[in-house]
Formats: sequence, C-alpha cells, structure tokens
Amino acid sequence: MTTRIETDRLVIRSFVSDDGPHWVELVSSQEVRRFLPASAPPSLERFATVLADRTAMEAEIGYSMWAVDERATGAFVGQCGIRPIDEGNGPEVDLAYHFVPAAWGKGYATEAATAVLDHGLYVLRLERIIAVVVPENTGSWRVIEKAGMRYVGEVDYYGMAGLKLYEAERSWWVTNPQPRRPFRG
Ligand SMILES: CC(C)(COP(=O)(O)OP(=O)(O)OC[C@H]1O[C@@H](n2cnc3c(N)ncnc32)[C@H](O)[C@@H]1OP(=O)(O)O)[C@@H](O)C(=O)NCCC(=O)NCCS
Repeated sequence: MTTRIETDRLVIRSFVSDDGPHWVELVSSQEVRRFLPASAPPSLERFATVLADRTAMEAEIGYSMWAVDERATGAFVGQCGIRPIDEGNGPEVDLAYHFVPAAWGKGYATEAATAVLDHGLYVLRLERIIAVVVPENTGSWRVIEKAGMRYVGEVDYYGMAGLKLYEAERSWWVTNPQPRRPFRG
C-alpha cells in the first residue's frame, strides 16, 4: 500500500527509491541532526534498508515515515510521519518530522504535522498519537503545540532522558488553529 496526503502547499507520500539522494542529504545535515538520537551513518545503502523497512511497515500497519514535497515546485523538502516509538518497539505511536534547512520557517512542519495527525486519528482511526522532543529543540515543540497537541510531562525514549511528551487523542484533537474539516470524532 502507499499513502498520499495533500495539503495547501505540500504533498506527503510514501518514499520511493528515487528519494535516496534527497534523504541522504537531509539526514546528513548537522543542523537537522542537532537534537536527534544517534543513528547509522546515512548512505544510499542505508536508504535502501530504510526504504524496505518503511515499505514493509506501511504494508503491515498502514503508516510509516513519509516523504514531503513542495507542491509548487515538486521539490523534496523533508519527511514526516508516524511510527511505533523507540525504533518500532511501541506500543505508543510517535509523530516525527525533519525538514531541509532551506525549507525552515515557512510553516511547512506545522502544516505537515497537522495533516499527519489528521490522517492518523481520523483516517487510520488511531486513538492516540504522541510526540517527544528534546526541551532545547524550541522549533520542534512550537510545531507540536501549533499542531494542537497537549503537553503531558517528561519521558525517556530513544535512550534520551527528560524529553517533553505531547499527545493528541481522537476524542478531543481537532486541527489547529482553524479546523479544516468538521470534527469527526
Ligand atoms: C523543527 C523543525 C521541523 C521546524 O520546521 P519549520 O518548518 O521551520 O517549522 P514551522 O515553520 O512550522 O514553525 C513552527 C513554529 O515554530 C517556530 N520555530 C521554528 N524554528 C524555531 C526555532 N529554531 N526557534 C524558535 N522558534 C522556532 C516558528 O517561528 C513557528 O512559530 P510561529 O508561527 O509562532 O512563528 C525544523 O527546524 C527541523 O527540521 N529541525 C531538524 C529536525 C528536528 O529536530 N525535528 C524534530 C525532532 S523532535
């Protein structure tokens, strides 16, 4: 199965093999990596494994990390998606997003995160999606709050202590600040 979600300015879609160089560039950026847990060095070989894992996860549970393109230009600008937290261990489902620095400051992360929450809660019918963030990553928790998630407290995940934990539940979450659709809880 594949996924395609369109927003005003973005297309959120399943990764394909042609995305390799863009993904490697994204996750090689020191600016992007600054607040992220350590991971295997990015390479096209690594991308092949990542793509296979994401494709298999999407086939099995209906979601994964997705590529994000700018609609106006078709350019790859980042990735956003949901997956079982802690490298697939779960059981919580975790929202994540990483954008190329050239695309920062345009509201893209908020737009993508909101659309992915909407898809996860209302299309996939998940009850709850969480997000965890390093407290110093101000931009990220601003995105989370603008996407209408609620602060819960501190939590340890991905081998990192004292992360800020946020949640969105289908019972109360609506797209924020202006609902784009009627509440469908
Ligand atoms: C965090 C990240 C996704 C933000 O992307 P973005 O597209 O610039 O975010 P938005 O434009 O939607 O910004 C949302 C809000 O956060 C604010 N913001 C963004 N970056 C910020 C920063 N570094 N410091 C303070 N505020 C920031 C914006 O001003 C905006 O608030 P406003 O509308 O009130 O002005 C991006 O910086 C990124 O990809 N970082 C690297 C990967 C990462 O850390 N991902 C999150 C892991 S939990």
